Amino acid sequence: MRIVAPSLLAADPMNMERDVKMLENAGAKWFHVDVMDGTFVPNFSFGYSTVSALRKITDKVLDVHLMIDRPLRYVEQFCKAGADYLAIHIESDTEENTIKALDKIAELGVKPGLVIKPKTPAEAIFPYLEKCALVLVMTVEPGFGGQSFMADMMDKVKTLRAKLDEVNPTCHLEVDGGVDAKTSIICKENGANVFVAGSACLRAEDKKAFISAIEE
Ligand code: DX5
Ligand code: ZN
Repeated sequence: MRIVAPSLLAADPMNMERDVKMLENAGAKWFHVDVMDGTFVPNFSFGYSTVSALRKITDKVLDVHLMIDRPLRYVEQFCKAGADYLAIHIESDTEENTIKALDKIAELGVKPGLVIKPKTPAEAIFPYLEKCALVLVMTVEPGFGGQSFMADMMDKVKTLRAKLDEVNPTCHLEVDGGVDAKTSIICKENGANVFVAGSACLRAEDKKAFISAIEE
């Protein structure tokens, strides 16, 4: 099943509820929520108060992407705030703490995810794939919306699709960054099934058509 997860980073912060409802009406089943700490990435965005506020206004899937240093310190708060999927970066802590964070997320009844930055090889997350419900391949350097899609990440998507088919076939394979009607096609061809779309989705005149074309 293919899913478009509109990124709320591209929504109007003063009209978040309006944009969530508008995207629900356009058929959005997931919402991607970017959390940035100004340290792991050079930008700030939402925190757990936003996740819990969103939880109150939507029953759609909240796909929370933590771009924060040493996320083990905060995963419990994000789980309790109402995340459905909670994804941490492989680059953000030690091997031991990454395992602890993934286990803790699962213990709290939330689906754990692991994210890799463009310079990190696919193989770096092989040891953790069985613990994941979602794997996210960044197709831009994390930190900002509206950047250009990196097509050279497609080999990584392909490698991870093949490995997941072997060890964890129900795990979602997500792409994030510069995904639009055109770039989503090669993501599909290489085996991605969840498509984060920020600026392209929020800017699309016909959001329903944008979502359904990618999910086709
Ligand atoms: C970037 C974020 C993305 C961002 C994508 O660090 O992880 O989720 O919102 O935005 P677009 O789709 O505009 O590249
Ligand atoms: Zn993201």
